[in-house]
Amino acid sequence: MSEAAAVRVLGLAGSLRQGSYNRALLRAAQGMTPPGMALEAFDLIDVPLYNGDVEAQGDPPGVKALKEAIAAADAVLFVTPEYNHGVPGVMKNAVDWASRPPRSAPLGAKPVGIIGASPGATGSARGQSQLRQAFEFTNSYCMPQPEILVFRAHEKFDPEGRLTDEPTAKYLRAYLEAFMAWTVRLRSPTPTR
Ligand code: FNR
Repeated sequence: MSEAAAVRVLGLAGSLRQGSYNRALLRAAQGMTPPGMALEAFDLIDVPLYNGDVEAQGDPPGVKALKEAIAAADAVLFVTPEYNHGVPGVMKNAVDWASRPPRSAPLGAKPVGIIGASPGATGSARGQSQLRQAFEFTNSYCMPQPEILVFRAHEKFDPEGRLTDEPTAKYLRAYLEAFMAWTVRLRSPTPTR
């Protein structure tokens, strides 16, 4: 991530598939960051399922990389799909690892934001709500407003995964500006980098 950026954000998409609308939404956000913000994507593909026995032996490499990336960022942007009216396992699993150990977890006191996309009519609303609840326990500073619910996502990206819907792009730009202000207000005065 750019050392020069005033605000360094880590982006996590909660879908592993290449054609994912949520990965596409994160890419779109990376292309429209406000001046002074760097947004780096971290792929969750190498993060295994949480297992307390494995954790007791030491974090696996994918988990170590995730936790270090979160610790080094000023804020984390979660881009979540919705599965069965909830947050997908890929995303929740990443949060579970990053919530450990409880007193010095990288997600503790970290500014976080949630956006998401779905081909359905509610644009990942329930998945986002459930993820928001998790951040109560991790003691992360989750931005309440604005929200980005990209509904009917299949109509808003082209076949190459580029965001083509101008109103959505406008909301996303405004979201990133608000998230930058939120981060500046709440980030740790002694970043761990
Ligand atoms: C879905 N999908 C879905 N969509 C939605 O709006 N509400 C839901 O509850 C669900 N449930 C659900 C369960 C499972 C197991 C799958 C695989 C899918 C559809 C989902 O939004 C769609 O597949 C998205 O394209 C997934 O996000 P990505 O991979 O495009 O980022």
